[in-house]
Amino acid sequence: MKPVCSYAATHATSLADPAGFWLAQARHLAWHRPPTGALSQDEANGAHRWFADGTLNTSYLCLDHHVAQGRGPQAALIFDSPVTQTLSTYTYAQLLNLTARFAGGLRKLGVEMGDRVIIYMPNLPEAVIAMLACARLGAIHSVVFGGFAPHELAVRIDDAQPKIIVCASGGMEFDRIIPYKPLVDEAIEKAKHKPAHVVVHQRRFVTAEMQSGRDIEFFKMYWNEPVPAVPVPATHPLYILYTSGTTGRPKGVVRDHGGHAVALRFSMEAIYDLDPGDVIFTGSDIGWAVGSSYIVYGPLLRGCTSVLFEGKPVRTPDAGTFWRLVAQHRVNVLFTAPTAIRAIKKEDPEGLLAKNYDLRSLRHLFLAGERCDPATFAWSQQVLGVPVVDHWWQTESGWPMLATLVGLAAMGPPRAGSAGFPVPGFDVQVLDEAGQPVPAGTTGLVAVRLPLPPGCFPALWQDEARYRAYHDVFPGYYLSGDGGYRDADGYCYIMGRTDDVINVAGHRLSTGEMEEILAAHPAVAECAVLGIADALRGQVPVGLVVLKDGQTVGEGPLERELVAAVRARIGALACFRQVLVVQRLPKTRSGKILRKTLRQLADGEAFALPATIDDPRILDEIRADLQRRGVGQAFEPGPPA
Ligand code: COA
Ligand code: AMP
Repeated sequence: MKPVCSYAATHATSLADPAGFWLAQARHLAWHRPPTGALSQDEANGAHRWFADGTLNTSYLCLDHHVAQGRGPQAALIFDSPVTQTLSTYTYAQLLNLTARFAGGLRKLGVEMGDRVIIYMPNLPEAVIAMLACARLGAIHSVVFGGFAPHELAVRIDDAQPKIIVCASGGMEFDRIIPYKPLVDEAIEKAKHKPAHVVVHQRRFVTAEMQSGRDIEFFKMYWNEPVPAVPVPATHPLYILYTSGTTGRPKGVVRDHGGHAVALRFSMEAIYDLDPGDVIFTGSDIGWAVGSSYIVYGPLLRGCTSVLFEGKPVRTPDAGTFWRLVAQHRVNVLFTAPTAIRAIKKEDPEGLLAKNYDLRSLRHLFLAGERCDPATFAWSQQVLGVPVVDHWWQTESGWPMLATLVGLAAMGPPRAGSAGFPVPGFDVQVLDEAGQPVPAGTTGLVAVRLPLPPGCFPALWQDEARYRAYHDVFPGYYLSGDGGYRDADGYCYIMGRTDDVINVAGHRLSTGEMEEILAAHPAVAECAVLGIADALRGQVPVGLVVLKDGQTVGEGPLERELVAAVRARIGALACFRQVLVVQRLPKTRSGKILRKTLRQLADGEAFALPATIDDPRILDEIRADLQRRGVGQAFEPGPPA
């Protein structure tokens, strides 16, 4: 039996002496030069930095270190792709060899420490190799989710200014081929910044056209001599991961080498209770923080085996796919989004497919990315027969801030609807509008007292103002943008965003960005995009538009144009499919659109009529429009909250 520490004592120590706590955790890693101190402050902006005088390399820790420890023959990555009928295993030794050679290729193309490389690929081993190869050179990778349209990719190219883009010729969505390379070419065309080279992994079902002199075949990168890992300062950026803010400009969340490695290694042990050699399957995408942390870096830092899956929880080929993966690869921890479970439940309501597989290896199901509704929580627990752990985190944190830590002696079992307790290092508080902690049971703004622990973002890429904005509202706190409460037993509940960010199938999207696209249409005078409740995806966006005077365009044609515009600019993943023409939008007397009230109205939630509303009759008009189109649950309002 492993010795188990108490959650309460570990959390208390981490807050009482953050520097001592994290320095002790840092000692578990193979540093090039171990840090002598843990916590310092950046002279320029006062932001906290971890392990500033240590040097290390994340690619070394993920690969070379394990090979040196005798894990060379162990599976590091199992690539399972039902959509392409592929199953392949990469041992730590093989992954090291390919990564070191690919890094040699990048160096030959002129990539040096600090240079940026964008990776635009589906969940493929080649993408993981490209990530680790960048890390090996101290280059900064930015993985962009494949569902984003060329415009979004172009925005990221201009922001990150990559020397190289690494892409695949295409991906497979169910049985539909999505050619990626034309999207990359279009994005480069649109962007002001032009990368020097595009490295293309040709897949057998779609061949990309290559531009002579610029484009390079992926496999040729392996023809280079392997290069050793370059030791970098702990504070050196490992990657930039773009996420949605409240405007059309995404935020480039920066992650450093040192804090990230220390935090993820700790989390693998304390939160997920995974030891070297254990197997984790994270059903996410490497383009999201969950995928980056728990498909790639966390498992490899811990010496685990990670299952990399190209497919969907359903229809690839059926709703038993996740259970097949668990049984076949003897998965110990399954981590996915509640949406995936809801999709499975929709197709196999009784969970009968799970009975076809031997799931005895599974110890826990972890869920994150969006609020887990109690019904989904209960269904998963009943079908899988293992504890289900909902845990809360954000791209900014890079690892969970609330969880039930199954590697520690817990405060109590997971509770449906709750994301658990603050993870060691996170002093999570619920505040009122004045920044004062609220009593148990009262909903407020979820914030974390500074300093944030290692692994959390030390910056937004070249955007100091927006980085400060997280910390300026309530000095001494990081403001998460989520609302929630804590119950009398200390369990925390995250109820949803308090800003213009929505969560569609676990994908974080900006309604502000969608509004910018609708507002650019010549017929639209003003608009609002709401994230309304959806039984499968958690939320979906719906647009309400007011036409300019004299416009006669019909609702149907306008809807088709606006839906196409959002799809072309953001991508299909936005699931923006409905637009309603309304006469007026409800506003405050100072002219601010009452978006929250509109969402509550559409969701059929009880709400108090805002005291500042200009004309309450508009809400009745909108309710009639929503009913006319069968959108949401806008029936009779409940009693005021
Ligand atoms: N590349 C290209 N297109 C993509 C894409 C990708 N990587 N991911 C999604 N899309 C497209 C889809 O093809 C679809 O296009 P369509 O409108 O032409 O049909 C659209 O984006 C919406 O995708 P999605 O919401 O994923 O719908 P779906 O029907 O394909 O699948 C689920 C539904 C629920 C099975 C799927 O959303 C899912 O697995 N969700 C889990 C989410 C998750 O793991 N999130 C990670 C956060 S932790
Ligand atoms: P992302 O940055 O894409 O990981 O999205 C982060 C957002 O997802 C958070 O701000 C929350 O709104 C939501 N989220 C993530 N995990 C949870 C959870 N367990 N419960 C409720 N909301 C969650």
